[in-house]
Amino acid sequence: MSNKEIYIIVAVDCKNGIGKDNSMPWHFKTETQYFKEITLKTKDPSKKNMVIMGKNTWYSLPEKYRPLKDRKNVVLTRDISLKIEGVDIYKSLDEAIASAGDDIETIFIIGGATLFKESLDYPNLTGIYVTFIENSYECDTYFPQIPAKFSNKTLIKEEEENGVKMKFMLWK
Ligand SMILES: NC(=O)c1ccc[n+]([C@@H]2O[C@H](COP(=O)([O-])OP(=O)(O)OC[C@H]3O[C@@H](n4cnc5c(N)ncnc54)[C@H](OP(=O)(O)O)[C@@H]3O)[C@@H](O)[C@H]2O)c1
Repeated sequence: MSNKEIYIIVAVDCKNGIGKDNSMPWHFKTETQYFKEITLKTKDPSKKNMVIMGKNTWYSLPEKYRPLKDRKNVVLTRDISLKIEGVDIYKSLDEAIASAGDDIETIFIIGGATLFKESLDYPNLTGIYVTFIENSYECDTYFPQIPAKFSNKTLIKEEEENGVKMKFMLWK
């Protein structure tokens, strides 16, 4: 069991949509920048954060951005033959979390839907960074209902881009 903080980070539209055709349904610089900032920052400059993602999310990232830089990238798959340069591959969330050594400060679970579903039930999940995009998009992938135990809700900031409002929240 890890003693590190473990967060989900996700952006949802007003119907809890998160993806379409293995891609993001929207593109907002504000949201991409926020994701980068939250997943990169560490209190201890000698440490890095870990980002854990499902295989589909890995392939959904534009090639020029992967692996996500200055973060330890971990991809989950049951396909033990999969090898990706610069990435650690594990076949379960438990294994991935257990692999985080002293050089890792915080663990972020970054999607997609399959992994979010499992992670929401993970007993040691510290919280959820959830960005509410106040608009509706065509989606085929959805974020599950957030369990009631995450009742401490903090509004981090509100922004607007191209006329669309976004609420950046932390649920613990
Ligand atoms: N809005 C957002 O914040 C956000 C964030 C991330 C992704 N997305 C979107 O979400 C969509 C992708 O979601 P998805 O549900 O299709 O895919 P996913 O969760 O990224 O990947 C699913 C695959 O990952 C592997 N996997 C996931 N959990 C695992 C576990 N616990 N143990 C072992 N393997 C595991 C399995 O691969 P194998 O079949 O090979 O075993 C599974 O088929 C895309 O549209 C993407 O753009 C949105």
